[in-house]
Amino acid sequence: MMKTELRKEIKEKLEQLSSAEIIEKSKKIIEKIPDTKNVCVYVSKKGEVCTHCLIKNLLKKINVFVPYVEKGNMFISKIKDFSELKEGMFGILEPVNRIPYCNKVNEVNDGDKIDMIVVPGIAFDKKGNRLGKGGGYYDKFLQYKNVLKIGLAFEEQIVDNVPVEEHDIKMDLIITDKRIIDPKILNGQEVATKIKQELSEKIKGLEKKPCLAVVLVGEKPASKIYVKMKEKACQEVGIVSKKYLLSENVEEEELVKLIKELNEDTEVNGILVQLPLPKHINEQKIIEMIDFKKDVDGFHPINVGKVSIGREGFISCTPKGVMRLLKEYKVEITGKKVVIVGRSNIVGKPIALLLLNEGATVTICHSKTKNLKEETLGAEILIVAVGKPNLITAEMVKEGAIVIDVGINRIEDFTQEKGYYVCGDVDFENVKKKVSLITPVPRGVGPMTIAMLMENTIKANEINNSNQVKER
Ligand SMILES: NC(=O)c1ccc[n+]([C@@H]2O[C@H](COP(=O)([O-])OP(=O)(O)OC[C@H]3O[C@@H](n4cnc5c(N)ncnc54)[C@H](OP(=O)(O)O)[C@@H]3O)[C@@H](O)[C@H]2O)c1
Repeated sequence: MMKTELRKEIKEKLEQLSSAEIIEKSKKIIEKIPDTKNVCVYVSKKGEVCTHCLIKNLLKKINVFVPYVEKGNMFISKIKDFSELKEGMFGILEPVNRIPYCNKVNEVNDGDKIDMIVVPGIAFDKKGNRLGKGGGYYDKFLQYKNVLKIGLAFEEQIVDNVPVEEHDIKMDLIITDKRIIDPKILNGQEVATKIKQELSEKIKGLEKKPCLAVVLVGEKPASKIYVKMKEKACQEVGIVSKKYLLSENVEEEELVKLIKELNEDTEVNGILVQLPLPKHINEQKIIEMIDFKKDVDGFHPINVGKVSIGREGFISCTPKGVMRLLKEYKVEITGKKVVIVGRSNIVGKPIALLLLNEGATVTICHSKTKNLKEETLGAEILIVAVGKPNLITAEMVKEGAIVIDVGINRIEDFTQEKGYYVCGDVDFENVKKKVSLITPVPRGVGPMTIAMLMENTIKANEINNSNQVKER
């Protein structure tokens, strides 16, 4: 959509809001503004966000600066009271008594250095791009580094994608009346919730609900948690889940028998055997026992083969989740240099194939890779699936790269209620400062994996039903 059309659409939406609604929404936004000492506030026009209330509130506790334009230059001036503001030439409130501090935010007297600029806007996208007014003086101010740029928007103003032009400056944080959006975060949790809602709508329209059989062998705490999460997701979207618990010492033959029964059972659409299996069981043999048309995990060699030649089959859930997340955030893949750390059959290799199919130039690294840093530094998109906390540090990542952290590591910590916390393979806090997008752990790839399992189960239901119709 063109920028002008998008602006028109958003304006029409905003015009439907009453003044009372604008003030109510603005109040909710203001409550979330972080504490600071010196704030520069870009005053809004009616219909954007009511920065008037914001200024009135901020003046009670901190130093407020307001910008103005004079003789083709932009300045900021400190104000002590809201009455010092009058409507200026752009219909925006400007200070009457101008004490020009400077025309560069970073050059303000040391004691008064601006630490935050608050910017209302017609709209923002999830990447923090602002649908600004159009490259005027105001936007130039936002180019200064080391100043936190906070965008304000109503929920209605968050759009999928702002067509970025030169003057659209990316915000560090966007505050809406409902939530705070960190534009650097690829929010898997949020995307997964949206996907599950869509799937649940789809299932409501089905005569027969899809059914997933989950097989758990043994008592591994992590496996038990994963199975529980999968059952919960089934419940949320309306998939029937059947759980089969087998003891740690179960004979391989017994597991094989169960798989055969589930393959035959017309009520069951998808079969998932939670991995890893105990050492005495041949994992690959079990994977290959599952009917490939019910293989919702996408581990069967037929499905793996189909992925490798770009044909439709079941794509394993984590790689599929990573691809979907990138798509949801409109990350361009074609022609990109992608480095994958990890070459397992269930994560590293299938992700590499999917990206290759999309036209990326893919490098796969592993434990025998000689100079990992040299490889990762070349990545425009870096995907890490190893299982080693802090394996990827800031100096191993290219400035502006996109980082997907698949790793899940449990770190013992008795200060936590559960006795542990979960982290990925990437030194998140330090790497985040350098990159343009990054997945957190938790709430990144994990929830996407489960959402994709749900999607695959619904697909299995469709395949099984169409086969049964054919067989009749
Ligand atoms: N978020 C999710 O939904 C999800 C799903 C699945 C897995 N995971 C997590 O993702 C991680 C990887 O899982 P996986 O099943 O792929 O693990 P895996 O089978 O153990 O594979 C790990 C890979 O990392 C490589 N590796 C090990 N140490 C390395 C090092 N120092 N430098 C570079 N590469 C190294 C290994 O190389 P070699 O091949 O040479 O040994 C191997 O290819 C785990 O933390 C797992 O819990 C998350």
